[in-house]
Amino acid sequence: MVGSVLMQRMQDEGDFATINPVFFSTSNAGGAAPSFAGAAGGDAGKLEDAFDVETLAKLPIIVTAQGGDYTKQVHGELRSRGWEGLWIDAASTLRMNDDSIIVLDPINRDVIDKGLANGTKDFIGGNCTVSCMLMGLGGLFKNGLVEWGTSMTYQAASGGGARHMRELLNQFGTLNAQVSSELDDPASAILDIDRKVLAHQRTDVDASQFGVPLAGSLIPWIDADLGNGQSKEEWKAGVETNKILGTSGDEHIIMDGLCIRIGAMRSHSQALTLKLREDLSVAEIEKLLDADNEWARVVPNTKEASMADLTPVSASGTLDIPVGRIRKLEMGPQYISAFTVGDQLLWGAAEPLRRMLNIATGNL
Ligand code: HSE
Repeated sequence: MVGSVLMQRMQDEGDFATINPVFFSTSNAGGAAPSFAGAAGGDAGKLEDAFDVETLAKLPIIVTAQGGDYTKQVHGELRSRGWEGLWIDAASTLRMNDDSIIVLDPINRDVIDKGLANGTKDFIGGNCTVSCMLMGLGGLFKNGLVEWGTSMTYQAASGGGARHMRELLNQFGTLNAQVSSELDDPASAILDIDRKVLAHQRTDVDASQFGVPLAGSLIPWIDADLGNGQSKEEWKAGVETNKILGTSGDEHIIMDGLCIRIGAMRSHSQALTLKLREDLSVAEIEKLLDADNEWARVVPNTKEASMADLTPVSASGTLDIPVGRIRKLEMGPQYISAFTVGDQLLWGAAEPLRRMLNIATGNL
């Protein structure tokens, strides 16, 4: 799914016109490569075998969204053969390696440029919630204004993959089907409807992807159990934020919170509590956030604006990262709340990769 969104974005932005792409497949070698991607819109040739390391090694740059197992199998082999090209990857496998950089150029272009100049070869997309959070709140994080933060997430089904999105929709459908005749009858009793839905959720619902029903419920755990009470998704918030920003020592930012799966389709949301290093006014904070990058967009902290512009439905399919609900909390003048939403498949996955490719080829 990330690969499809990536290809679409590259088409939309005309990226294929600036490169000479060779396409690889793990399952359909010999098939036709996407016609839109050929030089000057012409024939793009045949799909190569994605496990053919010899052919891969001829390329100066490899972009992959094939997943962690593929990265494990192919990346090491290429490097051990002495391949010195750039590896741009959506999978998390190499993310925290000392010799890799997490790419999110509106936030860490300086880190990327320094890495390229110093010979870094592995450029990896970040965790989706971390990337979306930093895109929305870059104005505070980049200016060293955050001492610590909690991020409580509301993550969409798309984070699990295409099958998870289908499962969520099927669950919504079967829940509705259980009670459709009662719903058609305005005189039916809501508690009877509720009982029927709950019985279906507990016994019959197909939850083979998520493990438990998501429609009409939520799942308060994402990714592996690290054994210390923290999920791997929650661990990523702290380590990736600091790695992206290049912060350590006194500048280290403490980030932790709970990651929750909800029944949204493809945009991840998060509610943040931040302790700032300074007592800034809300107006100053909003100005910093708006000014940081062209995609962060402050939503006024009103009911109307929040409901209209700060939801997964409004953010999905766009590159905008709305950030709102900004206000001072009762804990003190340096404590603020914020809520941000971002399309998990765009800034959360595909966009940083295509931009890294453009940086590497001198087009950005
Ligand atoms: N781990 C994320 C999720 C998706 O499950 O929502 C990829 O970053």
